[in-house]
Amino acid sequence: MSALDVREGYRRWAPTYAAETAISYLDTALVAELTPPLAGKALLDAGCGTGRRLPMAGAALAVGVDLSPEMLQAGVGLGVDRPDLRTLVGDVRDLPLPDQAFDVVWCRLVLGHLPECETAYGELARVAAAGATVIVTDFHPVAAAAGHRRTFRDATGVHELEHHVHSVERHLEAARRAGLSLAALREARIGDAARPFYAQAGKLALYRQHLDLPVVLAAAFRREG
Ligand SMILES: C[S@@+](CC[C@H](N)C(=O)[O-])C[C@H]1O[C@@H](n2cnc3c(N)ncnc32)[C@H](O)[C@@H]1O
Repeated sequence: MSALDVREGYRRWAPTYAAETAISYLDTALVAELTPPLAGKALLDAGCGTGRRLPMAGAALAVGVDLSPEMLQAGVGLGVDRPDLRTLVGDVRDLPLPDQAFDVVWCRLVLGHLPECETAYGELARVAAAGATVIVTDFHPVAAAAGHRRTFRDATGVHELEHHVHSVERHLEAARRAGLSLAALREARIGDAARPFYAQAGKLALYRQHLDLPVVLAAAFRREG
């Protein structure tokens, strides 16, 4: 199976992306644990996909940027411009946003789609206010190294998405160089929380094989002043 590039892959995945996966479920639990209270705060979700996490986040302003107009269109909508919610098409490596505008920045399951993560970390740090929290998650490099691929299924079959492995050390060094200091590092492994997803797919034998594999890496950083 040859991997689809990111634009084409998410154009095709957009209509069915809303279905939660084990990875997105585990990512949500980790991000909830790391995110400070959002009331009265400005939140950016860089690489927000459909923007599905934004309306419920409880932020005063929630902004979602994604490379894929189809993903935004399939979710909260493309070009939304409300006092509490905005969506824009853009690249996390060149965010169409001003400096120091956000109290909390998420970048969830995006950076593995980039050949290098350094430019993106520079941009996440640029748009974060002094003292802001920047939370980055990625498909875990240990899972990728063990041969696990980023895939989705639609009516035409299973498709693989372009993915680049960034080691934990590379993430942390890129963040440090961008002016982000590490506050917390977490990972989520395949275990009880993921079991229902395997059961629903009729893949409990695979669940037993994957048990305890780290699949999501999450880091919270503080933007230095
Ligand atoms: C696995 S999805 C995650 C979406 C969302 N963060 C979530 O957790 O539901 C990855 C998203 O990253 C977006 N993406 C990939 N490369 C990007 C880039 N360079 N700039 C902005 N978004 C990008 C894709 O279009 C896709 O919507």
